Amino acid sequence: VGDIDTPSGEFDFAANLLPFDPLDPAFQADPYPFFRLVRETAPALCTQPGMWVVTGFRECSAVLRNPKFGHGDGRLVASQITHDAEGNVVRPFVFMDPPDHTRIRSLVTKAFSARMVERLRPTAERLVGELLAAAMSGPADEPVDLMAELAFALPSNLISELLGMPPQDKPLFEQWSSALGRGLDPDFMLSPEEMQRRDQARTEFDGYFAELARRRRAEPADDLVSALVAVEEDGRNLSMSELVSTCRLLLSAGYLSTAHLIGNGVNALLRHPEQFEWFRAHPDQVAGVVEELLRYDSPVQTAGMRTALQDTEIGDQPVSAGEGAMLLVGAANRDPAAFPDPDRLDVSRKPERNLGFGIGAHFCVGAPLARLTTQVALTALAGLRVELATDDAPRINNLVLRGFAELPVFLRAA
Ligand code: HEM
Repeated sequence: VGDIDTPSGEFDFAANLLPFDPLDPAFQADPYPFFRLVRETAPALCTQPGMWVVTGFRECSAVLRNPKFGHGDGRLVASQITHDAEGNVVRPFVFMDPPDHTRIRSLVTKAFSARMVERLRPTAERLVGELLAAAMSGPADEPVDLMAELAFALPSNLISELLGMPPQDKPLFEQWSSALGRGLDPDFMLSPEEMQRRDQARTEFDGYFAELARRRRAEPADDLVSALVAVEEDGRNLSMSELVSTCRLLLSAGYLSTAHLIGNGVNALLRHPEQFEWFRAHPDQVAGVVEELLRYDSPVQTAGMRTALQDTEIGDQPVSAGEGAMLLVGAANRDPAAFPDPDRLDVSRKPERNLGFGIGAHFCVGAPLARLTTQVALTALAGLRVELATDDAPRINNLVLRGFAELPVFLRAA
C-alpha cells in the first residue's frame, strides 16, 4: 500500500480499497444503499490486507477518538503535503498528530472564537437578504440556481471576511477554492489537469496569504489573519508556513462543505414537503433541523484516512501498527444502531450527535460558523416559496464532498 495517494502510484484505489466504485453514477446519485450493504457485511471491513473501510457509527467514532490512530508519516495523505519555496514541509494541521496538531489547533480555536463567529451573524443575515433579493429579481417563472445564487456565494463571502481578505480580492478566493475543493479528493479521483489546477491554486493562495500576513503585521486589523500574525510574531508558536497552510485549510475545509450543506439541506427539505412544513411551523427549532440535514445527507462524506500508530483494534478486530482506515462518516450517520429508521428524514428528531463534523481531536473547528451560516440561509428560505425546478440537478464529482454543481429552483415571495 506504499503507493497510495501518490501521483505516480500504481495502486487502483477504486478496485482495491473501496468496496464500491465511487465513479459509478448510481453510487453518486445515492450512495446510501451501497453503504448499507457494506455496513451489513462488516461495519469495519478489511478490504485488502492492512486496509479498513469503516461505515459503522460506533466503529467510526471509536477510531476518531482513539489516539493510537493518527496520520503518522503522512503516507496516506501524501497528496495534501507540499513544500514551500524554502523547502519547508507544508502540512495543514488537519493532517498532523500531537503535539504539533494540538499546538496549532489551540491557537486557531482561540483566534476562531465564538465571539468572532457570532460577530458575523448580522453580516450573514444582510448577505442572505441581498443574495435572495438579487436571485428573485428576474421573471418568477424562470428557475434560479440556488448553488450559485446562495449556497456558494454566502460561505465564500463569510470566510473571506473572517480571514480578512479585502472585498476586491474575493473573486480570487472562489477561483482557488473550487480547485482546492476538487483537490481534497485522493489523487486517483483526479485528472492530471485537476491536479495541476490544485497545485497552482495552492501556490497562488499561499503567496497571496503570505503577503496579506506581512501587511497585517505592519497594520493589524480585526480579523483572523491579524490574530494568527500576532501569535506567529513570537516565533515559537507558529511559523509563517504554518500560518499560510492554516489559512488555506480554513478555506478548503470551510467553503465548499458549508455550500453543500446548504444545497443538500434545501434539496432534502424540498423532497420532503411535510418536513419543510414542520420547520416553517417551528422556526425556533432551526438548530435541530440543520443537525438532522447534516446527518441525513452529509456534505463531507469522509473524515479521511487514519493510520494505526501502534497495535490497536477497531471494535473487537485487531489492527496492527501501520494499517490504514478510511472513515466514512456519511455512512456512519445512516447506521440504524445509532439512529432509528436512519433513512427517514425527520427534522424533529433529537438525534444523538452525528459524525458530520467528525469527532475527537480533529472535530471541525468551523462547526459554529457552518451552523450559523446554514441556519441563517434556511431561516430566510423558509419565509419564501421554493420549488425544485428539476428532478435531476447535476451533482459534483467528488468522493470527499457530496453535493450539487447546480440546484435549479423556483423562488417566489410567500
Ligand atoms: C475538520 C466537516 C465547515 C474548518 C472537519 C472534519 C469534518 C468537517 C468531518 C474532521 C476531519 C478529520 O477528522 O480529519 C465540516 C462540515 C462543514 C465544515 C460538514 C460544513 C457544513 C467548516 C468551516 C471551517 C472548517 C466553515 C472553517 C472556516 C475545519 C478545520 C478542520 C475541520 C480547520 C480541522 C480540525 C482539526 O484537524 O483539528 N470538518 N466542516 N470546517 N474543519 Fe470542518
